[in-house]
Amino acid sequence: MTRHWWGPAFYDWVLAATEARGLADRRRRLLAAARGRVLEIGAGTGLNLRHYRPERVTSLTALEPDAALGGRLAWRAQTLSVPWEILGVAVEEADLPEGGFDTVVATLMLCSVGDPAAVAASIVRWLAPGGRLLFIEHVAARGLRGRLQRAVSPLWSRIAAGCHLDRDTLTTLRQAGLSVSDCDRFALPAAGPLFASCVQGVAWRPPIGEPDVEDRVWRAPRTHSTSAGVGGGQ
Ligand SMILES: C[S@@+](CC[C@H](N)C(=O)[O-])C[C@H]1O[C@@H](n2cnc3c(N)ncnc32)[C@H](O)[C@@H]1O
Repeated sequence: MTRHWWGPAFYDWVLAATEARGLADRRRRLLAAARGRVLEIGAGTGLNLRHYRPERVTSLTALEPDAALGGRLAWRAQTLSVPWEILGVAVEEADLPEGGFDTVVATLMLCSVGDPAAVAASIVRWLAPGGRLLFIEHVAARGLRGRLQRAVSPLWSRIAAGCHLDRDTLTTLRQAGLSVSDCDRFALPAAGPLFASCVQGVAWRPPIGEPDVEDRVWRAPRTHSTSAGVGGGQ
């Protein structure tokens, strides 16, 4: 168990303006794609929970090593209508089944893990073949802002519970063997110039052998179907 100097109320208060100006909407759109057995890592105070769709999610396992944040997470989880469990451990300590999840969710957390490559490897291990990581992360910016982030990051990381401003998270995910798609770069509103550079996207664990039907449909160029009742052409 860890405990950050900032508590859950402070965390939610700091994020409130950013949530209101677009982050909550991004969470909603991202998590609409969560399906099956879902694992959320570094779930914090549970700001993602209200966006899961119970008709698509069969269970939720959430990892949160900070006891105080985990308390608020558990309080919010009571409103879930799917089976859930919260494990008070870090990714590095978690003992979860290999290939045990259809979806892994990581939002604003890969910036603060000690070893991003090891965490990415765990994500790959826990995802079923063809399963998806859904992510929103703040990442290194380019140019002058990026140089500023690199200069400030060591000090910031001490103040802010290990949060790094200059992570190249997409490269880390790709190097772990995930296939990144649907990636959107955006500026986080009301977040200040050092945090604003963000990515939102989906990363797949490649399926073994033939891709499943959903995967093929998702990747295929859009064509109009002539069969009635199969999403017919408009
Ligand atoms: C900035 S908060 C993000 C919380 C939440 N995901 C959100 O979107 O609001 C980062 C979270 O990652 C958690 N965390 C940091 N290192 C972790 C690790 N190694 N394994 C699991 N969670 C971790 C922290 O305790 C914290 O709750």
